[in-house]
Amino acid sequence: MRPKFFVVYISPNGSTRLIADVFLQQLNRSGQQVTSLNLADHLLVPDFIEEFTDTENVCLLIGSPVYRDMAVPPVMDFIHRLPKMKNAWAIPFVTWGLACSGIALWQMGKALLEKGFRIAGAAKVASVHAMMRNMDHPIGEEHPDKEDQKQIIQLIDLLVSRFEANEMKALDLETLDYQSPEMSGECKSRIGKTWMIVPKKIDTNACTQCGLCEEECPVQAIVLDPYPKFTNTCFDCFNCVQLCPENAILPARSLEEIQANINKRINLIQEKPLTQSFM
Ligand SMILES: Cc1cc2nc3c(=O)[nH]c(=O)nc-3n(C[C@H](O)[C@H](O)[C@H](O)COP(=O)(O)O)c2cc1C
Ligand code: SF4
Ligand code: SF4
Repeated sequence: MRPKFFVVYISPNGSTRLIADVFLQQLNRSGQQVTSLNLADHLLVPDFIEEFTDTENVCLLIGSPVYRDMAVPPVMDFIHRLPKMKNAWAIPFVTWGLACSGIALWQMGKALLEKGFRIAGAAKVASVHAMMRNMDHPIGEEHPDKEDQKQIIQLIDLLVSRFEANEMKALDLETLDYQSPEMSGECKSRIGKTWMIVPKKIDTNACTQCGLCEEECPVQAIVLDPYPKFTNTCFDCFNCVQLCPENAILPARSLEEIQANINKRINLIQEKPLTQSFM
């Protein structure tokens, strides 16, 4: 029996959305029933979760950017809000900025298994580093490229053919724990700790109170009062810093300093392959 597919993601900088769209288009092409949700549309989340009434005949594709080696809080929160499933399938996917993809896939896989899903497949996809997006040549420039997208198309084609032949295979969680034991252990030790935020100040001389940052924050973490104030739902995507037309949102660490640290990490880890599907 064909499952009902759900595609869920958050994507402050657009790469995870691009991959979610590749999944969506390929599922549509193969005639599957599919519904999608961008978690930035937070008002739609409760009704969307209500759609998980059939707890068996479902395949959830869920995408997160990798931030600080982890899946981002809005995605993990969404998984935790789902009802307990019976024999449903899930496909976690992440986009990462070539520094380190960390344990994001493992973390999502673990939470999905705890909700009663089986893991049908997974993918990590090389992407432009969102922190560098305003620079001339950001790390990961041009990713996800055609080759990255081809791997995603192959993954979905294989999974659809397995569904149709009733020959699904469940992945072990260990498959998604592909970092070195030291790196994996270090990342896991940070689970459940406070999400690290780079503090940000507002330059009130420069801010025109235009409201753009408030409108565009994917988790509604900015309130204009009368200048932007940050609430504790901020997960530090840097979207507001990068899109403020007046450069009025000033992070405590400059993007140049952050980039230098990222480059050190890239040289140290040299993670390969950049894009990989697990099936
Ligand atoms: C706050 C922040 C932290 C990030 N941390 C990492 C990281 O630990 N490793 C990495 O490879 N990329 C990291 N990135 C880059 C993102 O994972 C990458 O750009 C991703 O594709 C962004 O997804 P989006 O375009 O859907 O927003 C980080 C980006 C931001 C904004
Ligand atoms: S986008 Fe910039 S100028 Fe506009 S309200 Fe936000 S901080 Fe102020
Ligand atoms: S307040 Fe800024 S950095 Fe925090 S989540 Fe919103 S857009 Fe991202």
